[in-house]
Amino acid sequence: MLKISVLLEDCDAPGFGYEHGLSLLLDSDEAVILFDTGESGVFTRNAEKMGLDLGRVTEIVLSHGHHDHGNGLAGGLPCIARKKGMRDLPPLIAHPEITLPRRFFVGVSADCPEGWMDVGINQLSLMELGKWPTRYSRAPLWLRDKIVFLGEIPQKYPHLAVRVGETPTGPDGAFEPDRLADDTALAYVTPKGLVIVAGCSHSGVVNIIEQARAVTGVNKVHALFGGLHFRDMAPAAIEQSIEYLRGLELAEVWAAHCTEHDLAGLPGQIQLKTGKIHCIDY
Ligand SMILES: [Fe+2]
Ligand SMILES: [Fe+2]
Repeated sequence: MLKISVLLEDCDAPGFGYEHGLSLLLDSDEAVILFDTGESGVFTRNAEKMGLDLGRVTEIVLSHGHHDHGNGLAGGLPCIARKKGMRDLPPLIAHPEITLPRRFFVGVSADCPEGWMDVGINQLSLMELGKWPTRYSRAPLWLRDKIVFLGEIPQKYPHLAVRVGETPTGPDGAFEPDRLADDTALAYVTPKGLVIVAGCSHSGVVNIIEQARAVTGVNKVHALFGGLHFRDMAPAAIEQSIEYLRGLELAEVWAAHCTEHDLAGLPGQIQLKTGKIHCIDY
């Protein structure tokens, strides 16, 4: 069984802290994975309210280096360290580019005179990360027999990716469009088929699924969870992505967080909010 607990998601959930961000606890027979940490670390309090013990976490996985997935490290890592003890810290697994500075143009205003907002992981969180055991990998990494971190996602269909913002990777640190090469996902191999858990799907949900199939050798996809970032995608690309998902005949789809688009009657959709627990039996 895979138990997916929603520690944090964008929608208002009475009784729980909420914000724009994502954090899930993925509890299977093999591992207890904390997947993303939201913006403020409020996920730790939500976990407590749900009766979930973050001291059971065996790995932390970061889907990519955006603030709404990684800034929760500043509050989250010390909380996990207190529960686990400093000798038993669970490794954090991510692509090495999660630490890049990033910015996004939001328009000039009194609050933001230059118009740019920092959207990378903040300094406080990077400092906590610096004290933590990490495994950075561009290549796919099998975390357990049936759980794989998908690594850098090949761009089989580059027009289906969702790139946003800029990063200083140009000559002499000049800002250029952010490739978001660090955006990745997890795949669970189950007897029912693959269960894929994504953060924002900047690499494109179709590219992520193609990578999961290539890395695992399993073609059947049972379920898809996480953000699809359709809000910044061209209409034709959204349509093509939904058509692809329809062709998979997914049994369960929870498209949350930055998806912000009607999935046009895609079967298998389920609704979850912060505080909910969903079990996939197999
Ligand atoms: Fe996000
Ligand atoms: Fe993102």
